Amino acid sequence: PESNSHTPLGPNWQFGPCFLPEKSRQYMDVLENYEVRPDDIWSVTFAKAGSTWTQEMIWLLTNNLDYKRAKKSVFERFPYVEFDLIYEKVEKNVIEYTNAMPSPRYLKTHLPAGLLPKQLWTVKPKIIYTARGLKDLAISFYHHMVHIQGYKCGLDDFLDAFLENKMFLCPYHSNEKDFWYLRNEKNILFLRYEEMKKDLLGVIEKTAEFLGKSYSEKELFKLADHLSFDSMKESSSFDLAQWVGTKTDFRFIRKGIVGSYREEMSQEYIDKFDEWTHEYNQQNGTCIIP
Ligand code: A3P
Repeated sequence: PESNSHTPLGPNWQFGPCFLPEKSRQYMDVLENYEVRPDDIWSVTFAKAGSTWTQEMIWLLTNNLDYKRAKKSVFERFPYVEFDLIYEKVEKNVIEYTNAMPSPRYLKTHLPAGLLPKQLWTVKPKIIYTARGLKDLAISFYHHMVHIQGYKCGLDDFLDAFLENKMFLCPYHSNEKDFWYLRNEKNILFLRYEEMKKDLLGVIEKTAEFLGKSYSEKELFKLADHLSFDSMKESSSFDLAQWVGTKTDFRFIRKGIVGSYREEMSQEYIDKFDEWTHEYNQQNGTCIIP
């Protein structure tokens, strides 16, 4: 994407690129000129960074902790804006669907800042960005692409493509970097998956404050319980495979462990990911977890 002079990062900031299927070109204008509302709430993440987890937290905090309504699929309550661009077989026009949604709307995207609607930078709705350690994210992404998207490739080939920034949605680094530099904007909250794992209650409190919501300690504990891995794993609200019509036993809420990449990634790839990210951090002043 071209640099965008409307952003708080100024006219010389060059937003990161994005590896997308050719077909997605036709959506770029639509997305760029998408009408943003001031009371929209956007959840922005690279794929597999914990979007669904963050979405559920945001939705409940801003819907009076209505667990009954939260039984509806998260993909309906909190639609994925560029869905059409990815799931070619699904005949759902998400852009139309979101345009018809009553306010406040909840909108999820995995696209980098440079492909998001221009109005995000002028209308300034609340945006929550979630980052994740890269090796866990890459392994999670691999399982997702194989089981839900039907990719037929081995892990090492997938990781090679990821390292070359030639995997769908890549590069990860600049996706996080753009929001890292935007993180002090009043309308932006920057979260990390690892922080949610370590101190979910603390993250819930911080997010509630950002969203202008206040709940009792008891209510916050109940929400933390609802957002626990075991509780979310049991719920059918997060079953993406079912939502997109893929027949698989794959569980979208899969492992939920920090460092589980060690079970599958060889030392050679661990070293490659670490060196790659350390170098990127040094050159770009970022704090990406390799
Ligand atoms: P793993 O595949 O490593 O288990 P996204 O929603 O962005 O696609 O991210 C999915 C990842 O978040 C998966 O990671 C999933 O298990 C994890 N996740 C979802 N809900 C979670 C929860 N309540 N606690 C911990 N991890 C969760």
